[in-house]
Amino acid sequence: MDAIEVLKTRRSVRAYERKTVPKAIIEEIIDCGRLAASANNAQPWEFLVVTDPDMLRRIAKATDYGGFIADAPACVVVLCRDTKYYLEDGSAATENILLAARAHGLGSCCVAGDKKPYAGEICDLIGAPANYKLVSMIPIGYPAESPEPPKRRVSDVLHWEKYGGAGKRA
Ligand SMILES: Cc1cc2nc3c(=O)[nH]c(=O)nc-3n(C[C@H](O)[C@H](O)[C@H](O)COP(=O)(O)O)c2cc1C
Repeated sequence: MDAIEVLKTRRSVRAYERKTVPKAIIEEIIDCGRLAASANNAQPWEFLVVTDPDMLRRIAKATDYGGFIADAPACVVVLCRDTKYYLEDGSAATENILLAARAHGLGSCCVAGDKKPYAGEICDLIGAPANYKLVSMIPIGYPAESPEPPKRRVSDVLHWEKYGGAGKRA
């Protein structure tokens, strides 16, 4: 798959086969995460990979819409030091991880961390340092579903030179 095909075919996958993802593949996926764009090149991220079924269950249980983490063979937790642009940086790393997973034929899904009331509980569970923020959790596994969520058309979202849609700035 070339890069454009990876970008265009990535979808959130929330059901996984009961099959272990080789460690070398997880490591390459994390390698792609740590190479993401970063404001001032701060690279404030740390990536924690959870494969222990009990810990996966506990993380899943703490979330509101991430119950499927319990059934994934692995989950990457993206943490960022509390810098000015931690969320943008952590989100860029998260997207790189989603895309790298897709390139390896794996399914993944970004599960919200930042701003969620359970963020502190998950940081405690995994032993994150106090000055770190939970950006996202990314369960990864061989896909057991192929979702096709609706997408806005490029003609609806692309504007050349001047904004052409409805709505005025206040
Ligand atoms: C910041 C962020 C947080 C998300 N949180 C969740 C979540 O908690 N649970 C979930 O099932 N999906 C979550 N998603 C996945 C979105 O639901 C998904 O990206 C969206 O429905 C579009 O589908 P697609 O990823 O297949 O294109 C999140 C996505 C983003 C970007």
